[in-house]
Amino acid sequence: MRPERGGAKRLCVPALRLAALVLWGVLSAGALNNGLAKTPTMGWLHWERFMCNVNCREQPDACISEELFMKMADVMVSDGWKDAGYEYLCIDDCWMAPRRDSNGRLQADPVRFPGGIPRLADYVHSKGLKLGIYADVGNKTCAGYPGSFGFYDIDAQTFANWGVDLLKFDGCYCDSVDHLIDGYKYMSLALNKTGRSIVYSCEWPLYVWPFRKPNYKEIQQYCNHWRNFADVYDSWQSIKKILDWTSSNQEEIIGVAGPGAWNDPDMLVIGNFGLSWDQQITQMALWAIMAAPLLMSNDLRNISPQARALLQNKDVIAINQDPLGKQGYQLRKENNIQVWERPLSNLAWALAMVNQQEMGGPQLYGISVDSLGKGVACNPSCSITQILPVKRKLGIFAWTSSLKAEINPTGTVLFLLEITQKT
Ligand code: GAL
Repeated sequence: MRPERGGAKRLCVPALRLAALVLWGVLSAGALNNGLAKTPTMGWLHWERFMCNVNCREQPDACISEELFMKMADVMVSDGWKDAGYEYLCIDDCWMAPRRDSNGRLQADPVRFPGGIPRLADYVHSKGLKLGIYADVGNKTCAGYPGSFGFYDIDAQTFANWGVDLLKFDGCYCDSVDHLIDGYKYMSLALNKTGRSIVYSCEWPLYVWPFRKPNYKEIQQYCNHWRNFADVYDSWQSIKKILDWTSSNQEEIIGVAGPGAWNDPDMLVIGNFGLSWDQQITQMALWAIMAAPLLMSNDLRNISPQARALLQNKDVIAINQDPLGKQGYQLRKENNIQVWERPLSNLAWALAMVNQQEMGGPQLYGISVDSLGKGVACNPSCSITQILPVKRKLGIFAWTSSLKAEINPTGTVLFLLEITQKT
């Protein structure tokens, strides 16, 4: 959603105070130095599945409420999500009361969150999970609740006092791109000033792209991850658009990604209604290749065993969480097949073959092994394991050999290539 324009030309943040904070020395070159998100954040975020449903009277199990998050916390522990690495339970828009309290502080809707955020945070922490929350750099959130403009310090301190562990900061209703950028920077410094470890998830580039190319070197200094492109929807069309945007802009964005600083292609919609099984495999495989935050948005209380197995697939999560922290890229595109690869630690590589065709049957595609991993992944040879759609050891491949696979329409085959020791 675009920032609302018009209105008085007011700074989203007094530039002098921003300068003072920068002088305060919290910034250094490279990733945001808060020591967080060394691997892509994993967790659950309510928006795509539950949106802004505040009708708790008629939909008590699907409205944005303390109860929804407490139940999700319970399931994240009982059904193996936390053990698989999904740690951050994140509230999105529509949690707030319509107005701030008499001290100017944000407050949760008192009916839907009777115990306030502190009680929810305590509950989530008691489960060994972390709590994320949502706010907006401008005058209002995208759904029209109070924005943080003019309250960055107060809101940062409020979130810290409540025990919040992640802030998703949206970019609606800010009156100019420069003021939006100042606001994102200011909130980063304000969060840092609280002394609490709070992952900072931004939408900064998403709101800058329509006007100019974002300064990613700067963004990585202030944010732990950032949205670049439109909201994900529960549809193959949406996943395709996100992948196309990412491959078209990979020269711009993948160089800055790394530990503490990730490109965020938005939520995982696996386990909902709109993707076929093959398309769910494609999203999980490509989010692993892209080193994307794995923030699910689905109903964990009611998810198929297949979707749960895919989301908890240890081999795929290991690729996503690889400590080298290098984002993958699209290597080539031919005959409706996209080939993506990602360098991993220990000289290993992940490889994905995506079939873009939306007709016909499984398409046979072969690639010479010597063209993979910048020509070194399998030199002199490597062992190749197919990870998705099913795990299968394929054996040792000499440098001169070819890797072939049959890929279902809109599906993906994901591989792990591990170099054999030089003989
Ligand atoms: C959008 C944002 C979504 C969600 C929504 C809430 O701008 O991209 O992820 O947070 O606002 O209103």
